[in-house]
Amino acid sequence: MAAAAAAFIMMLMTACVVCSTASYRARVVGGKTEIANVRTNEEVQELGRFAVEEFNRSVKVRKEGEEELRFVEVVEAQQQVVAGIKYYMKIWVTQVKNEDHQMFDSVVLVKPWLSYKHLLHFAPSSQS
Ligand SMILES: *[C@@H]1O[C@H](CO)[C@@H](O)[C@H](O)[C@H]1NC(C)=O
Repeated sequence: MAAAAAAFIMMLMTACVVCSTASYRARVVGGKTEIANVRTNEEVQELGRFAVEEFNRSVKVRKEGEEELRFVEVVEAQQQVVAGIKYYMKIWVTQVKNEDHQMFDSVVLVKPWLSYKHLLHFAPSSQS
């Protein structure tokens, strides 16, 4: 009888840990928040330019093939558990070859305190 009660309490406690862990994760990861007045937001515009610049660079590297690197070894490394901000942007661009306009979806990860910016995604927009 007491064992059954103890088991039941254990079950409740486990469920509680699971549910609080889940809500903790949800808070850490967070939902996407719309950024207002994007067109006048210099930081976001700069990030968009960065995304295109990175894309330009990847195209150039692929074309020329001269900047290929061969990995030798990691000589130093640090690890730190950090969060960051992901910017999901719709970026309007002009194709250099034919002046056609096109919308791109882009994701840039920013860790402001490290001056870290990384292009995670850059592809023609699915819904333009
Ligand atoms: C990308 O490349 C094009 C063509 O070379 C260039 O005109 C443009 O300024 C580059 N960068 C950005 C951010 O558009």
